Amino acid sequence: MSDRVAPNNLEAFWMPFTANRQFKKAPRMFASAKDMYYKTVDGRTVLDGTAGLWCVNAGHCRPKITEAIRAQAGELDYAPAFQLGHPKAFELANRLVDLAPEGMGHVFYTNSGSESVDTALKIALAYHRANGQGERFRLIGRERAYHGINFGGTSVGGIVSNRKMFGTLLTGVDHIPHTHLPEKNAFTKGQPDHGADLADTLERIVALHDPSTVAAVIVEPVAGSTGVLIPPKGYLQRLREICDKHGILLIFDEVITGFGRIGAPFAAEYFGVTPDIMTTAKGLTNGVIPMGAVFVKDEIHDAFMNGPEHMIEFMHGYTYSGNPIASAAGLATLETYQDEGLLTRAKELSPYWEEQLHSLKDCPHVIDIRNLGLIGAIELEPIAGEPTKRAFSAFLKAYEDGLLIRTTGDIIALSPPLIISKAEIDELFDKLRKVLMSNI
Ligand SMILES: Cc1ncc(COP(=O)(O)O)c(C=O)c1O
Repeated sequence: MSDRVAPNNLEAFWMPFTANRQFKKAPRMFASAKDMYYKTVDGRTVLDGTAGLWCVNAGHCRPKITEAIRAQAGELDYAPAFQLGHPKAFELANRLVDLAPEGMGHVFYTNSGSESVDTALKIALAYHRANGQGERFRLIGRERAYHGINFGGTSVGGIVSNRKMFGTLLTGVDHIPHTHLPEKNAFTKGQPDHGADLADTLERIVALHDPSTVAAVIVEPVAGSTGVLIPPKGYLQRLREICDKHGILLIFDEVITGFGRIGAPFAAEYFGVTPDIMTTAKGLTNGVIPMGAVFVKDEIHDAFMNGPEHMIEFMHGYTYSGNPIASAAGLATLETYQDEGLLTRAKELSPYWEEQLHSLKDCPHVIDIRNLGLIGAIELEPIAGEPTKRAFSAFLKAYEDGLLIRTTGDIIALSPPLIISKAEIDELFDKLRKVLMSNI
């Protein structure tokens, strides 16, 4: 392999969410990718069971997206994002709101899921203030939630290992319970029957603080990075009712569910529950160029649009908000989704996916399997005294055997590109069965 693709000094790059010392002893490097497959620097083919990191929904190196980026980079590489614009950012915003639930007519651009979450939280706080209710300052998240890694998202997030190193985080934050009930719901196909009543704890938390102090509740409609938690039937509807009753904004973090992952453009549509604010990123540009978008209901946007016209209405934004190359990538991505029916394809494929996934139930150490749309999770019994090790061994073995999976704790999470064929689903689960049957 050429030195160009396989550098011999790996020390300088401090890798994110990575066991750096382990990696640098035995690096795993990709050299190229096409459609459903990666190629490693040593020439092996790896089936992508995770759409990169839940983002490459249309598969890799898709021609329209690649070409749009190339063309845009040679035409308008950058335009200042503040007080100036360029047409593609507006065009993309229009296409996005056309896909969104009725009444969510505005988007605010960011560069990642984490930035979308922090932007959404700031919009919620500022909206109440603009509306004469500045005393609504509390934010409510959920145990086990993942909302990215900025301070707002870490604060409303509920993964202990992601929180414990970083001091007091934001104040005025509380959490509702997670919905993982393995003793009642293990091996459920689709949405579990038990757990909708857990939404009622929101009433108690709101009562504790007094509803007049609560600005917003944020949840992932389907929690992904915590190990895939599917919402119990009726749970999201109940959260919506409680928020409505108390004038609290409901934020759906759709960073992984957005853009077709569960068989509709957004989880909001799939579940028939419309939030007030919706965060997205990842699949917006097929993961190719960093970009996120926060969708807001019109009345939230409109509450900011008063005061003198020369004044900036919302003191927030990023140098790269609506970047021209990201906007071009977003437009080409939406076109690819549209051309190939990818935003609803997960619905057609999910019965086959579900059947193949649950066929792994008899493998050693499997204690739960969960799924929705083109998402799957296999929870393994941890090795006594060595949590996470069994799943990490499965990840390493799968990679050696030509399959990319993702693990969190002792849970294997699967989220392939939405272009996956039935034959590739078979390949994925054949490979995974071999991994689970090996001595992990
Ligand atoms: C629900 C959710 N929110 C936010 C994020 C953070 O996104 P990013 O890594 O682009 O900052 C993620 C990433 O996995 C996510 O799953």
